[in-house]
Amino acid sequence: MGCGASVKKKGDGDRQAPAEARTISAEDEEYDRQEMAKIHSIGSRRRDSFSSASANEDDIKTYIFPAFEKAAEANERIAAALIGHDKMKILGVDKLSKELLDQMVGAFQPRCVVQGEDVITQGDKGDRLYVIDEGNFDIFVARKTESGEPGEPIKVANFLPGFVFGELALLYDAPRAATVRCATVDARLWSLDREPFQMALKRSGLTKIEQYTGWLTAVDILKVLNLHEIGCLADACEEVLLEKDEVLMTQGEVGDAFYILQEGQCGAFIIDGGIEKIVKTYEKQGDYFGELALINNAPRKATVKATADAVVLKVEKDKFDNLMGPLLERLKAQAETYPQYADL
Ligand code: CMP
Ligand code: CMP
Repeated sequence: MGCGASVKKKGDGDRQAPAEARTISAEDEEYDRQEMAKIHSIGSRRRDSFSSASANEDDIKTYIFPAFEKAAEANERIAAALIGHDKMKILGVDKLSKELLDQMVGAFQPRCVVQGEDVITQGDKGDRLYVIDEGNFDIFVARKTESGEPGEPIKVANFLPGFVFGELALLYDAPRAATVRCATVDARLWSLDREPFQMALKRSGLTKIEQYTGWLTAVDILKVLNLHEIGCLADACEEVLLEKDEVLMTQGEVGDAFYILQEGQCGAFIIDGGIEKIVKTYEKQGDYFGELALINNAPRKATVKATADAVVLKVEKDKFDNLMGPLLERLKAQAETYPQYADL
């Protein structure tokens, strides 16, 4: 498969960020934090883009992925790198069907690189992402100075085999955010073009609608909705990923959305006499919260946060008003059972 070097098996575990592999951890942490925040909203945008993409649904369904023949173990390592990558997870790559993941992995092609070669140059347009097969790569970032000019590039990280890079420009359609330079005598990468990357994500968006529709029909409170209405609800949902302790809504705030728990755990907390008390836990798929502010046009009655990593489906206020009409009475009756709610 090229480059003259043999394919060496690597542990899947080294795919992302062993602590010693990263050179400037504070920078990286900040970068990761900002990127996670952006990707959370990308996850949402991706759900949105499903609706707007319905016009070319056929293109998405009939798209033929390019296939580059590779050794089975190379495919396995690429798949492991993608599945383990935080940002790819948030996009749902770890939940792709086996068929779709195989197609995405099959579309990766090999590329050989020599020491000092810039695979990516900050500011360029991005058209592919990479998985490192062999060798190390330095990441340099030139931050803007006060005058707005780019400053000196500073090395912020060193990436090892199994790492993924070059995803940001593809995800945000933005210029490359860093320069990526080969730091070893030679190295080998796998690269994936923008089109198969996006097509796989879009196609997974299509199947997700079907997935949501499936489990939403089983949710107690939604049982009065017919299949058409459930389908509209599934289409209106945006997936939001929460890390443990992440706050989704704060008591007293204006409410702009309703949420249904898909995975993980959340809790509702009320401040009473200056002390925060948990008043309800959400652990079951289909548990919901954030309806009171929308129904009553009132501030949030509680703070809801993730008590473990969680995935929730978000339904924005205008969509909630359109879709949840048939449920209003049931939601109100249910709210009467909330502990302390009557006293508030
Ligand atoms: P992209 O902007 O497409 O191209 C440069 C890549 O470098 C970027 O995607 C990330 O994958 C990677 N990268 C790693 N660390 C950083 C960082 N601190 N800032 C920006 N990009 C980084
Ligand atoms: P909302 O007021 O929009 O935002 C906070 C949410 O917490 C609220 O809707 C309910 O869904 C949920 N909640 C859970 N338990 C309670 C409670 N005891 N009192 C008020 N809200 C609660």
